[in-house]
Amino acid sequence: MTDAASVNLRADEATAFAAGLLQSSGVPEEDAGIAASALVRADLRGIDTHGIVRLPGYLNRLDKGLVTAAPQLTFERIAPSVARLDGQDGLGFVIASRAIDEAVAMAQDAGIALVGVRNSTHFGMAATYLLKAVEAGCLAMVFTNASRALPPWGGTEELFGTSPFAAAAPNEGGLPFILDMAPTVVARGKIRKAAREGRAIPDTWALDGEGRPTTDPEAALKGTLLPIGGPKGAGLSMLMDILCGVLTGARFAGDVGDQYKNFDRPQGVGHFILVMKPDLFISTDDFTARMADLVSTVKANPKADGVEEIFMPGEPEARVEAARRAEGIPYRTVDLEPLADIARDRGVALPGALSA
Ligand SMILES: NC(=O)c1ccc[n+]([C@@H]2O[C@H](COP(=O)([O-])OP(=O)(O)OC[C@H]3O[C@@H](n4cnc5c(N)ncnc54)[C@H](O)[C@@H]3O)[C@@H](O)[C@H]2O)c1
Repeated sequence: MTDAASVNLRADEATAFAAGLLQSSGVPEEDAGIAASALVRADLRGIDTHGIVRLPGYLNRLDKGLVTAAPQLTFERIAPSVARLDGQDGLGFVIASRAIDEAVAMAQDAGIALVGVRNSTHFGMAATYLLKAVEAGCLAMVFTNASRALPPWGGTEELFGTSPFAAAAPNEGGLPFILDMAPTVVARGKIRKAAREGRAIPDTWALDGEGRPTTDPEAALKGTLLPIGGPKGAGLSMLMDILCGVLTGARFAGDVGDQYKNFDRPQGVGHFILVMKPDLFISTDDFTARMADLVSTVKANPKADGVEEIFMPGEPEARVEAARRAEGIPYRTVDLEPLADIARDRGVALPGALSA
């Protein structure tokens, strides 16, 4: 699907373009590749709100020295299966990628492993890191805290983040379970996207600055987001702040910097990354058989009116990814223009479809 308003890029073209831009802000080649792949994986999976359109924001913070371009990441083993990582304010994508790799390696020895990260930054789509764990045959929970977006339940002032709850389990021979969800009705990126596209939003997503439900995305961005399930979503968001902030030594209680508003200091994000091998309590073969049993039982559930198929969490995104890997990723030209302008200024190679 290519028309005047959109352009299709192959994943490898988009990744090379994003990596080139990151390198132009001083990010070393390998790290730029990791961050670019994470951004493009979000685009591949239809999580366009967390893809390369966000690059101008990351480049801006790199150029201002608020994100460290080349952190020297060293894990500190504080117990046989627990490690601490100081992200040195580097790119969250690189920090979380290294952290999940380390956690998977530790879990291969100990069965279970926990990595606590402080001094990180926005890591984008949490599923990026879950996928790495399931590809290694492990279960995982990958949490992050985030800047202020919603009040505690009953409050009016934004305090907690849209910190996603993200958990995964492998399912050999089938699609893995990948649950990756903000504790708010939607991630703030969806409201920013509606604002960019001049679309109204449902009045169940956010309150305006006066605490009233709104359909205006601009008004919503000045107000607060609504949690899923009232106090339950607000409670989940607080749990993310406890595990990722209070526990790890990262910023917490509303102190995580907003990457688009706070330019006086690094963000101070924290991550909590837990990995488990499937043979903790039973054999791997038993786990595989029991997962297959669970998935087929789920799929065989009687369908509600209008539902053609029951999906596993993560399945809608996996289907989009398969289609986009085959057909390319459709980007709105208007969203790529700011990136193309930066690339032209810096002499970064543009994908063929943009250089014409
Ligand atoms: N890094 C950050 O600070 C941050 C903050 C907020 C959100 N995010 C990211 O934003 C992204 C979007 O979050 P979201 O809450 O809007 O996600 P979403 O509402 O699009 O999806 C949430 C979950 O529901 C599942 N799902 C959707 N439809 C389904 C169906 N029909 N059957 C079964 N499962 C289904 C999805 O697979 C997904 O696991 C996530 O990747 C998240 O990590 C990141």
